[in-house]
Amino acid sequence: MKLRVFDNEELVARALGERIASAVRQRPNIVLGLPTGRTPIATYAELRRLHLEQGLSFARASTFNLDEFVGLHGRHPGSFRFFMQRHLFDTVDLAPERIHFLDGMAADLDVECERYERDIAALGGIDLQVLGIGSNGHIGFNEPAEELVANTHHVELHEGTRRDNAAQFGGDPARVPREALSMGMGTILRAGALILVATGERKARCIERTVRGPVTTRLPASFLQMHRAVEVYLDRPAASLLAVE
Ligand code: PGA
Repeated sequence: MKLRVFDNEELVARALGERIASAVRQRPNIVLGLPTGRTPIATYAELRRLHLEQGLSFARASTFNLDEFVGLHGRHPGSFRFFMQRHLFDTVDLAPERIHFLDGMAADLDVECERYERDIAALGGIDLQVLGIGSNGHIGFNEPAEELVANTHHVELHEGTRRDNAAQFGGDPARVPREALSMGMGTILRAGALILVATGERKARCIERTVRGPVTTRLPASFLQMHRAVEVYLDRPAASLLAVE
């Protein structure tokens, strides 16, 4: 894993925004995998800025988001689709037909998961997958467990994860959906390149275990060690348990 440590969150967002922008410039028809969460908000702001001020174009790019709640339509303010519209899609010039999302309202969720895998494969796979990490080591909604499901699948969310997502639901964890659809670790590991981003001291322990620890389903992020092209973008607090400069 290639570690990149920055003094603060703002510098992480600037560097990661520039890293993504340069991949898009190099390969305008790139297929991007995108995360939601608090961590990437500043990076999306940087991408909006690069689009508005420097003409960075996403017109030929495609995107696949990692996950979505079950039972919410894309206009629900708690949905990840809504989050992405607000933080990126409404501003940049992505073609709507090249934005791919799991549909948490699909009548048959298993069929919907298979559809997503097929759509990813049809575009030749994801070139660059950006990932956040939960403080319990989850990636997408691949929660720590005895076993993991490799492909896109239907998941039951842990209580802690529902609490972490309560902000978009009026601060009430009880209103956070109990289920979600998520790319599996296999879907993620098939991407050409991976970028994991984490900021804040809350993530330090799981980052240390992700980078240095054994590969275990008890920490889904540890599976990233098995990919040949992983970059990890960290601020100093998130890197505080790693002995790196
Ligand atoms: P966060 O979430 O960026 O809000 O900490 C990350 C995640 O749960 O994947």
